[in-house]
Amino acid sequence: MAMNIALLQFFLSFVSFYFIISNGVCSFEQKNIFKVEMLQRKHQFGSKSCILPESRKEKGAIILEMKDRGYCSKRKINWNRKLQKQLVLDNLRVHSMQNRIRSKVSNHSLEQSSEIQIPLASGINLETLNYIVTMGLGNQNTTVIIDTGSDLTWVQCDPCMSCYNQQGPVFNPSNSSSYKSLLCNSSTCQNLQSATGNTEACEFNNPSSCNYSVNYGDGSFTDGELGVEHLSFGGISVSNFVFGCGRNNKGLFGGVSGLMGLGRSNLSLISQTNTTFGGVFSYCLPTTDNGASGSLVIGNGTSAYKNLTPIAYTKMVSNPQLSNFYILNLTGIDIGGVALQDTSFGNGGILIDSGTIITRLAPSLYNALKAEFLKQFTGYPVAPGISILDTCFNLTGVEEVSVPNLSMHFEDNVELNVDETGILYMTKDNSQVCLALASLSDENDMAIIGNYQQRNQRVIYDAKQSIIGFAREECSFI
Ligand SMILES: *[C@@H]1O[C@H](CO)[C@@H](O)[C@H](O)[C@H]1NC(C)=O
Ligand SMILES: *[C@@H]1O[C@H](CO)[C@@H](O)[C@H](O)[C@H]1NC(C)=O
Ligand SMILES: *[C@@H]1O[C@H](CO)[C@@H](O)[C@H](O)[C@H]1NC(C)=O
Ligand SMILES: *[C@@H]1O[C@H](CO)[C@@H](O)[C@H](O)[C@H]1NC(C)=O
Ligand SMILES: *[C@@H]1O[C@H](CO)[C@@H](O)[C@H](O)[C@H]1NC(C)=O
Ligand SMILES: *[C@@H]1O[C@H](CO)[C@@H](O)[C@H](O)[C@H]1NC(C)=O
Ligand SMILES: *[C@@H]1O[C@H](CO)[C@@H](O)[C@H](O)[C@H]1NC(C)=O
Ligand SMILES: *[C@@H]1O[C@H](CO)[C@@H](O)[C@H](O)[C@H]1NC(C)=O
Ligand SMILES: *[C@@H]1O[C@H](CO)[C@@H](O)[C@H](O)[C@H]1NC(C)=O
Ligand SMILES: *[C@@H]1O[C@H](CO)[C@@H](O)[C@H](O)[C@H]1NC(C)=O
Ligand SMILES: *[C@@H]1O[C@H](CO)[C@@H](O)[C@H](O)[C@H]1NC(C)=O
Repeated sequence: MAMNIALLQFFLSFVSFYFIISNGVCSFEQKNIFKVEMLQRKHQFGSKSCILPESRKEKGAIILEMKDRGYCSKRKINWNRKLQKQLVLDNLRVHSMQNRIRSKVSNHSLEQSSEIQIPLASGINLETLNYIVTMGLGNQNTTVIIDTGSDLTWVQCDPCMSCYNQQGPVFNPSNSSSYKSLLCNSSTCQNLQSATGNTEACEFNNPSSCNYSVNYGDGSFTDGELGVEHLSFGGISVSNFVFGCGRNNKGLFGGVSGLMGLGRSNLSLISQTNTTFGGVFSYCLPTTDNGASGSLVIGNGTSAYKNLTPIAYTKMVSNPQLSNFYILNLTGIDIGGVALQDTSFGNGGILIDSGTIITRLAPSLYNALKAEFLKQFTGYPVAPGISILDTCFNLTGVEEVSVPNLSMHFEDNVELNVDETGILYMTKDNSQVCLALASLSDENDMAIIGNYQQRNQRVIYDAKQSIIGFAREECSFI
């Protein structure tokens, strides 16, 4: 064992955090024994190279490499600040999602929403979105952040009225012979008008451009016109893809060209490409430390997945008012093999999102989970909470911790075993850890499965059959 530790310490200075975690965990019944140092962030600098995420075609599937969007940053990362800021922003995203959900579900705005119908990301905070991929638009490659919580795909467009700084050239429609601007008088624009919030200006006899406008909750926005273009991944091209050509954009999009909307509405990339890719996509989200890469597979790539357990599918809950979200039927939660008792199981539904970090549960369920966790995670000094995380420990001087397993159950007997790296969140000074789940502020808010608890899983979204699949996978593009 001493030998192993020495070897691991040796490796720590050379290989990514992700590799170490997946190799440094010993299983013990329903608990995982962690070396505390393995939770710590060892990499203080961004990576030196700025190689764009790649893509390839394999066994009929399109596999896009996913990277952390900080991949190109040469700045020294202050983890204490970064992690705490992330929690604050995560909370903003969840608040704006809850507002959006409330306004759709409540009586009052139901009348409104039948007119406005904005299945866009209005109100969603974008800064927490971490995962980026490269897609081809016309003859140009663009790098975008992915979001299952919104629908419109857009990129910054030249000539720009106002663009934020991005890596690489801005998409220029006039350099592409396949680009066509959508006009107000087209039926596509008419159909999408409800989706773009542009209800007044664009009239059927108006030959002007089909403008769109999206405002995000953090003050970021994109305005421009809708266009159609060839979309391509790994050598497969889809024509007449409708996207936003953003002429006036503001936001902290981390130097990327724009956003890929993977929501459930008919404007989303996955709906628009459904004849080619069957309305199916999946991802494996890596830890966000430098060097880790994951994959986004467009289409039914069952044979290309590297899943370690069989895929288990659960039905999506249908909720006409929230038809652009992916919602599951949560039927139970186990902590270290102990099943929590809660009356909410099987009732409402839990939303699954790629852009929310920390899983949020109704206060009563969160409190039950916390109580059971505290019963099992004993003997460590308690530390003050940080932001939304209220169950924290000071692990100064502790070498090894024993962390109970966490698993979520869904309808159709589907179990999601949360990865070892998704249970504790390292915060201050590399010695304070917190339980990586949080409470919603209201019992009636919509619960959300965040990306921290989806790491190292193949998560399959089959919009056509309205099912979601889970299987364990060690994420990597290669
Ligand atoms: C607990 O986690 C370990 C390591 O991931 C795993 O081997 C074991 O099967 C898990 N136990 C349960 C009950 O899920
Ligand atoms: C809508 O309003 C009616 C009457 O005000 C009420 O009875 C009903 O429960 C409300 N429905 C919802 C979903 O709030
Ligand atoms: C875009 O990316 C593809 C795949 O990586 C590459 O083959 C192609 O040359 C790139 N095109 C441009 C214009 O950079
Ligand atoms: C696009 O066209 C502009 C002029 O219209 C030119 O300056 C620019 O270099 C072109 N970009 C690419 C990537 O071809
Ligand atoms: C998209 O959905 C809206 C409302 O649900 C519908 O009116 C419209 O026809 C649909 N557009 C397309 C292209 O299917
Ligand atoms: C779309 O935006 C352009 C540029 O801002 C503007 O000239 C045009 O009138 C707008 N069209 C409509 C229908 O609002
Ligand atoms: C829309 O307007 C353009 C320019 O006036 C015209 O060429 C085109 O035929 C019109 N399309 C439809 C569907 O009316
Ligand atoms: C693709 O999506 C459109 C719009 O949502 C829908 O009308 C159509 O039936 C779908 N096609 C397939 C093959 O699923
Ligand atoms: C995906 O492929 C698997 C195995 O090839 C098949 O069982 C499943 O039905 C497919 N799903 C879709 C949506 O085509
Ligand atoms: C969730 O699943 C349970 C168990 O199968 C079922 O009784 C319940 O009706 C489901 N709830 C919803 C909202 O579909
Ligand atoms: C954690 O404990 C160590 C020593 O046990 C102490 O020095 C340190 O101040 C504590 N940190 C916090 C955040 O409480």
